[in-house]
Amino acid sequence: MKINTIYTGDCIKILNEEIEANSIELIFADPPYNLSGNGLKWEGNKTGGDWYMANEEWDKMTAPEYILFTRKWIGGSYKVLKDNGSIYISCTYHNLAEVMIVLKQFNFKINNIIVWQKTNAMPNMTKRVFTHSTEFIVWAVKGKNWIFNYEELKNINPEKQKNGSSKQMRDVWAMSLVQGKERLKDKNGRALHPTQKPEEILKRIITASSNKGDTVLDPFLGSGTTAVTAKKLGRNWIGIEKNKKYVEIAKVRIENINNPSFLQTV
Ligand SMILES: C[S@@+](CC[C@H](N)C(=O)[O-])C[C@H]1O[C@@H](n2cnc3c(N)ncnc32)[C@H](O)[C@@H]1O
Repeated sequence: MKINTIYTGDCIKILNEEIEANSIELIFADPPYNLSGNGLKWEGNKTGGDWYMANEEWDKMTAPEYILFTRKWIGGSYKVLKDNGSIYISCTYHNLAEVMIVLKQFNFKINNIIVWQKTNAMPNMTKRVFTHSTEFIVWAVKGKNWIFNYEELKNINPEKQKNGSSKQMRDVWAMSLVQGKERLKDKNGRALHPTQKPEEILKRIITASSNKGDTVLDPFLGSGTTAVTAKKLGRNWIGIEKNKKYVEIAKVRIENINNPSFLQTV
């Protein structure tokens, strides 16, 4: 097994065949949510520029296929996690139920469901439901001795007590979708990855549930957000991604951590 490496391929196979059992302290997984399909787009949107709904081949499965897929990759994650390990799974209302059921089937203990309140969420285009502005991050643990760096989280919490002192971190995180300089874009200004996560989310998770020198694994690495943040925080990392185009984007991003002009030039 190699650390600080991106494995190119299907995470179910790689988790089962290449990653050692009981070797990983922390997994962050941002799986396909199974919501692609209708190719919604909104060109000329005034608040955030052109917007295209994720419409990716990796994100289209039937309901039975999706639960089986969830069972397989969470099963592989269970195998590679250490007994004190944590898994954080990013969900929307589309896949929260499947993820929760499978975690319980594997006897994971659910510690929190963190709510990410997206402060710049897109307006609802159908005008027939409340505007969706949340995602969920389920934190589950394998055993009883999980890592939780309570004091460090208080120190990085932007929310403060009235007197300015540090405050416990709550399970509702208000922050915007990735935008501005952090957003990876091509020369035409289109996002290089449709679901790039904010580094701030990974910073909180990695700070909470790992220590320096530990290994953080992401089975759906995408544009590399988990690896980049893990490296910045002195953790080892392993990424798995099946799309070669995204593997290349992530590699260049990781290599350019100390090159602030990189984000403007991809
Ligand atoms: C929701 S995105 C992750 C985005 C990532 N968190 C970021 O910040 O860029 C899911 C990623 O998983 C990849 N993927 C889908 N199915 C996969 C599989 N079976 N094995 C490995 N990667 C997969 C997709 O190509 C996509 O890049």
